Amino acid sequence: MADYLQVNSASWNKKTEKHIHSEFYDVSGFKKSLNSLKEIELGEMPDVKGKELLHLQCHFGLDTLSWAVKGARVTGVDFSDTAIHYAKELAGELKINADFICDDIYSFGEKNGKKYDIVYTSYGVLSWLPSISQWANLVSGSLKTGGIFYMAEFHPLHDLLIGYPYFYKKEPVKLDAETYTENSGEETNEELEWTHPFSSVLDSLIKAGLMIQSVREYPFSPYPCFSGLEEREPGRYYFMHRNNPVPLVYTIRAVKT
Ligand SMILES: C[S@@+](CC[C@H](N)C(=O)[O-])C[C@H]1O[C@@H](n2cnc3c(N)ncnc32)[C@H](O)[C@@H]1O
Repeated sequence: MADYLQVNSASWNKKTEKHIHSEFYDVSGFKKSLNSLKEIELGEMPDVKGKELLHLQCHFGLDTLSWAVKGARVTGVDFSDTAIHYAKELAGELKINADFICDDIYSFGEKNGKKYDIVYTSYGVLSWLPSISQWANLVSGSLKTGGIFYMAEFHPLHDLLIGYPYFYKKEPVKLDAETYTENSGEETNEELEWTHPFSSVLDSLIKAGLMIQSVREYPFSPYPCFSGLEEREPGRYYFMHRNNPVPLVYTIRAVKT
């Protein structure tokens, strides 16, 4: 297999250059609202005030900075140096206190000795990771006892309906994909992805020493990031299958025991 970290980080560097200028991410709107978080995570996350929060796969930091504005002491980790460059630039410009680290999350997990109150990750993260048990161990290893893990992720059932495998395969899915923002153009990027069924995500978190507190599924996405979505209510994008909404997002909240 090609070096997946090299292939995927090159793709994310190129995509980030598009994202930073996109209406989808609306950086100028963010500079006024100082919030990119959506109703789902805002409704389910614990109070972050005064908490040490680790954001895994933070992209160029809009959500990380939003949690900082809500009072968390935040650290964002992402392997795209372009994304981390823009995240630091935004934090500096907006005078928001935040640490950003450019690293592969597995390699960060091996080096990191700090324990956090909250580990957060969201929307489009797991498919870039070849091992879900290694990911769950890194989540657990980054938390204090009693600390909270929270994730909001796109649903693997939707992935299945758009042509990805549901069950895990060791060999990655190879794609030449456009990005998901409205300004993607024709340019495609080579990417390597893996799918992780719902059961593996839950099972690996349990085996890593986390007690699941809640699991939820939503029939809408807060992002218009897939083709065929319909905005049936403001900010809620649905994907219909035979007249029924497909689950598009699931969330998990767990506590480190
Ligand atoms: C879809 S984005 C996350 C989206 C985020 N919720 C947002 O919109 O701001 C996925 C992120 O994962 C990062 N990523 C992918 N594989 C990674 C890895 N192995 N280590 C660290 N970051 C990784 C990418 O650089 C990208 O920024």
